[in-house]
Amino acid sequence: MDETAEARNPLRDPRDRRIPRVAGPCVLVMFGVTGDLARKKLMPAVYDLANRGLLPPGFSFVGFARRDWEDEDFAQVTYRAVKEYARTPFRDAVWQQLSEGVRFVSGSFSDDAAFDQLATCVRQLDEDRGTGGNYAFYLSIPPGQFPTVVQQLKRSGLSDSDNGGWRRVVIEKPFGHDLTSARELNATLDGVFPPEAVFRIDHYLGKETVQNILALRFANEMFEPVWNRDHVDHVQITMAEDIGIGGRAGYYDGIGAARDVIQNHLLQLLALIAMEEPVAFDADSLRMEKEKVLSAVRLPADIAAGTARGQYSAGWQGGRQVHGFLEEDGIPADSRTETYAAVQLGVDTRRWAGVPFYLRAGKRLPRRMTEIALIFHRAPHLPFSATDTEELGQNALVIRIQPDEGITVRFGSKVPGTAMEVRDVNMDFAYGESFTESSPEAYERLLLDVLIGDPPLFPRQAEVELGWRILDPVEDFWASHTKPDQYPAGSAGPASADAMMARDGRTWRRL
Ligand code: BG6
Repeated sequence: MDETAEARNPLRDPRDRRIPRVAGPCVLVMFGVTGDLARKKLMPAVYDLANRGLLPPGFSFVGFARRDWEDEDFAQVTYRAVKEYARTPFRDAVWQQLSEGVRFVSGSFSDDAAFDQLATCVRQLDEDRGTGGNYAFYLSIPPGQFPTVVQQLKRSGLSDSDNGGWRRVVIEKPFGHDLTSARELNATLDGVFPPEAVFRIDHYLGKETVQNILALRFANEMFEPVWNRDHVDHVQITMAEDIGIGGRAGYYDGIGAARDVIQNHLLQLLALIAMEEPVAFDADSLRMEKEKVLSAVRLPADIAAGTARGQYSAGWQGGRQVHGFLEEDGIPADSRTETYAAVQLGVDTRRWAGVPFYLRAGKRLPRRMTEIALIFHRAPHLPFSATDTEELGQNALVIRIQPDEGITVRFGSKVPGTAMEVRDVNMDFAYGESFTESSPEAYERLLLDVLIGDPPLFPRQAEVELGWRILDPVEDFWASHTKPDQYPAGSAGPASADAMMARDGRTWRRL
């Protein structure tokens, strides 16, 4: 920080605090480098950051895994991942510079000697490449292995920042599978890293369109006045995927759609839509507002009527026949895990009292689409004939998170002609048409924030716990009741989800 400027002007607006958006000297140590996430998202993100000039020349990338690899082998694996999945064009010079800092340490997580070797490796990098004793540890591994790795980081002295450098640890969801396990997980981290050193990734928060919710709401004048119960009838948050569970049976079975994406991604979206304005765009203010609103979320009194769940059965998708969930490799034939979940939530605040928030997420739905739709009340009075307005629906503001990123406003317009016929039309903002810059991948943004040490986009433990507090009663209810309903792959979900909306006199938006 510029202390002299601060001293000269003690009344300086704290919001002027600007962090340079370029990483300083550091080492990124990654566990779980043989996994899909590392290959498809993390390694390409490292390259894309380097390609955009956001990493320092001495930046170093260390992989840790059981494979019997040399540095060059790991560099090759990284190279192939970059070639296949990077967002930005491949440039030899960038890759050459990056690859000079690539190292690999071979060993299992319980192998003391391997962690000692890792400690030697990063200290050597400090000397050879000027990484300044700054280390980020990325745990792209199953949560069951967190305690072992975290303890090893402690035992080997890697977690101590006594040499003046910083230490950060990055963890990926699932952060437990209920409130109790989330707390246990946190306790293992807490003993080793201070809370500000823990970066929990919810990759939805790294998406441009998700960050834009804050700009839409708080940088404009025209939306906030209608952003409340006086004008909003209900909110629909949808995360539809066309893919099935692929090769993730081991993770997905017993977890299901609600724990996989509602507890984190969809509740984060709800929080950003429903929260009050933070006093500043800094981590504490933002997280505080999200936590406040999440603590006001309420489940329906009748969980059976206010939730729905389903499991995809065999069907057709994209012109191809696909298996049902129970026939997927690694899924037991009697699995009760849901691949579709819908839940109705209330938000007990003055702003939202009485406005239902409907959340739904599912796999093997007709297409991949995540959106948030605010559906407005009908105009209190229509001075037109009923027939002229029979094709007029409710006004809507739709935030298209992905794909086809943008925002749509739906409103009634006069149909050209002699009658006063009114019909719904859309007004669109599309990223592709308004900006020449392409959006960074979520992981690019989040990885950079970790290396910079900028935490607003990372949920803290309180948010994780609030998510489980909301979801645990639903999971308990489902566990003690009937099986999920079936829905054919490629359809819009189980009939029970439509019935849930119909009971409230509403319908889901078409997928
Ligand atoms: C992950 C879930 O968090 O998000 C996956 O574990 C899901 O099941 C994925 O497929 C979807 O991410 P995105 O960015 O493609 O919407």
